[in-house]
Amino acid sequence: AAEVRVGLIGLGTVGSGVVSIIQRHQDELRHQVGCPVTVKKVAVRNLNKQRPVHIDSNMMTDQIEDVLFDQEIDVIIEVMGGVDTTREHVLKALQNGKHVVTANKDLMAVHGAELLRVAAENHCDLYYEASVAGGIPIIRGLSDGLSADRIKKIMGIVNGTTNYILTKMSQNGSSYDDVLKKAQELGFAESDPTADVEGLDAARKMAILATLGFSMDVSLDDVSVKGISSVTEEDLDYCDQLGYTMKLIGLAQRDDGRVEVSVEPTLLPKQHPLSSVHNEYNAVYVYGEAVGETMFYGPGAGSLPTATAVVSDLVSVMKNMRLGVCGNAIQEPLHKRTLKEDKE
Ligand code: NDP
Ligand code: HSE
Repeated sequence: AAEVRVGLIGLGTVGSGVVSIIQRHQDELRHQVGCPVTVKKVAVRNLNKQRPVHIDSNMMTDQIEDVLFDQEIDVIIEVMGGVDTTREHVLKALQNGKHVVTANKDLMAVHGAELLRVAAENHCDLYYEASVAGGIPIIRGLSDGLSADRIKKIMGIVNGTTNYILTKMSQNGSSYDDVLKKAQELGFAESDPTADVEGLDAARKMAILATLGFSMDVSLDDVSVKGISSVTEEDLDYCDQLGYTMKLIGLAQRDDGRVEVSVEPTLLPKQHPLSSVHNEYNAVYVYGEAVGETMFYGPGAGSLPTATAVVSDLVSVMKNMRLGVCGNAIQEPLHKRTLKEDKE
C-alpha cells in the first residue's frame, strides 16, 4: 500500500497518545512497515472539547459509523471503552473487512473469544496488547514468547490505579479519596473508577492472561474478586510496622486439571520483588515448567505507555497486511483445552 489509513474511535487519554506517537514517530513507523501511516478520521463524543493533539476539524466526527464505514480506512483503533455497544461497533468493523486494534479489556474479557472468531472468519486482525498492563508486552509474552511452555502460574500487579493509590497512601499518608482523584487526573483510572478500586479491572485482565497462558477459556465468572476500597491508612501503617507491603495481587494457577484465578489485596514481605513495584507501574510474574521464573515490568497505565502498545499492534497489523496474512490466526491458540483435557 502507498499508505496505511487509520480510523480512531476515541481521543481521550489513550487516543491522544496514539495520535501523538503516529505523528512523532513517522520515521520509525515507515522503517517498520515501508509506507506512511495517516490518521484519516477520528470519532469523539464532544466535538467542542479542547484536545492535547492537533487533528484537522474536517477529520473529526461525532458519528462512529463515519469511521466504521469509511471505505478508505484500513485499520480501526478502538480506544473509547465500553462493552455492549462497543462489541457491536467492533463486529461491524470486522464484518466490513477492517482490522481492529483495541485497548479495551472490558470488551476482550467478556467478548474476546467471539470477536477473535469473527476476525478470523473475515480474514481480519484483532490485536489487544494494551488491554493488559498498559505498556508491558505481556500478551505477546504469553502468546508468542512463552508459547512453547506449559505455564503453571501467573501472578502480578495488573492495575495501575490501585497500585498508585496504595503506594501514595503508604508513602505519604495521603487519603484514599485524594489519591484516587489524582489517579483520575493523571488518566490512569477508568471513566468510572469503581472497576479499578473494586478489583474488577484486574479480574478482567487476569481472565485474559489466564486464557492465553493456559490456552483455556477462563471467563470473568471464574475469577474471585476483592478490591481495595475498604483499605485505610491505618491498615497500611500496620502492614508497614510488621514488615509487609499491601498490593492488589492477581493470581492464576493451574494444577492437575484445576484452574484458580483470584484478585485480592495481599500482604507481601518487603523484600518480595512485587513489593517494590510502585505507583502506576505493573509487574507480572510468569512461571513455566520449562522456562522457570520470568518477570515482566513497566508502566501499566497512562497515555504514552498504553499508546505505545496500541501503535505497536498497528505495526503488527501493517506487517501482516504486507505479507497478506492474518495475524491473530497465528497469535491465538488454534485449540483451547478444557479442564478435563488439561488433567489427562
Ligand atoms: P477516556 O475517557 O480518556 O477517552 C475515551 C474517548 O472515547 C474520549 O475521547 C471520548 O470522547 C470517546 N467516546 C466515548 N464515548 C463515545 C461515543 N459514544 N462516541 C464517540 N466517542 C466516544 O478513556 P481512556 O483513553 O483512558 O481509555 C480508553 C480505553 O483504553 C478504555 O477501554 C480503557 O479501559 C483502555 N485503557 C486505558 C488505559 C489508561 O491508562 N487510561 C490503559 C489501558 C487501557 P470525548 O473526548 O469527546 O469525551
Ligand atoms: N484503569 C487501568 C489501570 C488502566 O489503572 O490499570 C490500564 O488498564
